[in-house]
Amino acid sequence: MIRSDLLFPEGFLWGSATSAFQVEGGCTNHDFYDWAMRGRIKDGTSPDDAVHFWKYYKKDIALMKKMRHTTARIGIEWARIEPDEYRFDYDAIAHYRDILTEMRNAGILPMVTIHHFSNPMWFVKNGGWANRRAVGMFARYAAEAVRRLGDLVYSWITINEPSVYAVSAYLFGEFPPGKKNIITAFNVMNCMADAHCIVYDLIHDIHRQRKWDAPRVGVAKHLRTFDPLRENSKSDRFAAYLMDRYFNEHYLRRINKKKRTLDIFGMNYYSGDLVSFPMKMEGRPELAKNRLGWDMYPEGFYRLLVRYYERYRLPIYITENGTCDDNDELRPHYILDHVAQMHRAIGDGVDIAAYYHWSTMDNFELVDGLMSRFGLVHVDHESPRRARTLKKSGMLYGAICRANGITRRAVKKFAPEWTSPVERHELDR
Ligand code: BGC
Repeated sequence: MIRSDLLFPEGFLWGSATSAFQVEGGCTNHDFYDWAMRGRIKDGTSPDDAVHFWKYYKKDIALMKKMRHTTARIGIEWARIEPDEYRFDYDAIAHYRDILTEMRNAGILPMVTIHHFSNPMWFVKNGGWANRRAVGMFARYAAEAVRRLGDLVYSWITINEPSVYAVSAYLFGEFPPGKKNIITAFNVMNCMADAHCIVYDLIHDIHRQRKWDAPRVGVAKHLRTFDPLRENSKSDRFAAYLMDRYFNEHYLRRINKKKRTLDIFGMNYYSGDLVSFPMKMEGRPELAKNRLGWDMYPEGFYRLLVRYYERYRLPIYITENGTCDDNDELRPHYILDHVAQMHRAIGDGVDIAAYYHWSTMDNFELVDGLMSRFGLVHVDHESPRRARTLKKSGMLYGAICRANGITRRAVKKFAPEWTSPVERHELDR
């Protein structure tokens, strides 16, 4: 239980997030589909088996509304909008307009991600993000998308998790194109930074020319805490510093070097690591793990909120936060713990404007496929129409959105055994 309600400032935005290829289905000319066809997905499924948001978006938006979302983050698929180089598909763009209009009519402000991991095959054949020409190719697509959709968009995320993309695709070989070269990984990260800067200006120019509302532009930056495994070991401390410097910091520094190219600070937070020399990462033994073995570490969320607000002084949008949990046993507490940490950070002066839970519904989880569930909404992947059911965590989250915070009533109803981390801390003393 909690002693008092944890309410958020008026106007705080509550929503959830998805990306295009992880939910849309029906698009087969991008590299994650190709990757699946090459047998690289753990459970043998493909993004085309995904939940078919493209077809069933009305149902999903109705569920967002039921959860009292005031905003939601969706992605657009480059391979749909520009299926061949220089050829734009205006039917696909019109379909995205229908989706965004449906959201607007439901009172849900759309945040739109322009690039979230997947790339058209023609772009891959041109060398993908390892080719400096990627900057121009991406800018061309982004400009067309913004011109055609911008009047309906509340905020733009240019690129999702550039550091995760660069290391997963070009260092660890887990995402397509499966390369393992640290120099290329750096070049890719830099290329994505330069692409962001150009697209940032472009979005502002287009919104200004069209006299649309001023855009709120950001990136969705995956941030983690990196702490030395042995506090008294110089080499572990150095290893943790390197991880922080290159995974967390490098991209942000590069996109803000010449001038600031962020209107909002988008943060994706999942977990943190203990680092030992020479670059071994592990969890904290005392913490509970999710289905993928990730630590559940809400304190790390608080630490990063404070750190990045002090650094950039921009309104923070939590563009992703969530956990993999097949039976929805961990998610209710995960949500409460993380929302409580945001509440604590706001109390300490951090400006947080919005929270997007990852994910709206169970979806195609990158290299795991359909077997890993992150949704507030359960999707029956076996049923022909991919039946959706709100989970207990979805109901709890809906109560949080409706009340603009955590109420005693919601805790009593959905997680009576939960106590807020701040109260837990007091009890421990
Ligand atoms: C990504 C999502 C992904 C989630 C869970 C984030 O890093 O942006 O696409 O599904 O993590 O792994």
